[in-house]
Amino acid sequence: MIFNELFEFIIFILPCYVANAAPVAFNKIIPMKTPIDMGRKFIDGRRILGDGKTIEGFTTGVCVGTFVGIILTLLGHHQILTSLILAFGAMLGDALGSFIKRRLGVPRGKPLPLIDQLTFVVVALILCNVITNVPLMYYIYSLVITPPLHLGSNYVAYLLRLKKVPW
Ligand code: CTP
Ligand code: MG
Repeated sequence: MIFNELFEFIIFILPCYVANAAPVAFNKIIPMKTPIDMGRKFIDGRRILGDGKTIEGFTTGVCVGTFVGIILTLLGHHQILTSLILAFGAMLGDALGSFIKRRLGVPRGKPLPLIDQLTFVVVALILCNVITNVPLMYYIYSLVITPPLHLGSNYVAYLLRLKKVPW
């Protein structure tokens, strides 16, 4: 029973996870150079988001995450609008995580446990509630599964030289 639900959750959340991973996976092919904050600073004198959040990365995440959602929809396992919101929410949450990091004085690329691993998925799920009812268990699965999966996949990206740091 729980495995069925867990499997359904993984399929559901896939556009969100894929969106979050896409900027790293594609950064050798697509140059990610235009910061979303355009280099601007917040009232605390630090960058609003920093150079790690680019327009190209954001767009790649939304497109690749939604693309996976379209494939899953064609296979009868997702809905295009839901996957678009999950992918967009992932990139929005990722940017929110960077905003929080900068406000706390954590420089771009340095780790901030839990914020790095969870803001993207939590924002994606909350945003998703606007159009569909997200089961409470999905939040619980997200909080449990995402941190190890995020750390593991970032480590693989580091081994593949797609990332300079293993987190
Ligand atoms: N990336 C991007 N645009 C985004 C998200 C990610 O270009 N909207 C790319 C950047 O090259 C970034 C890399 O993916 O360095 C890894 O993403 P992440 O770990 O989220 O960014 P950090 O560089 O660690 O920056 P921050 O400290 O702000 O999280
Ligand atoms: Mg990082």
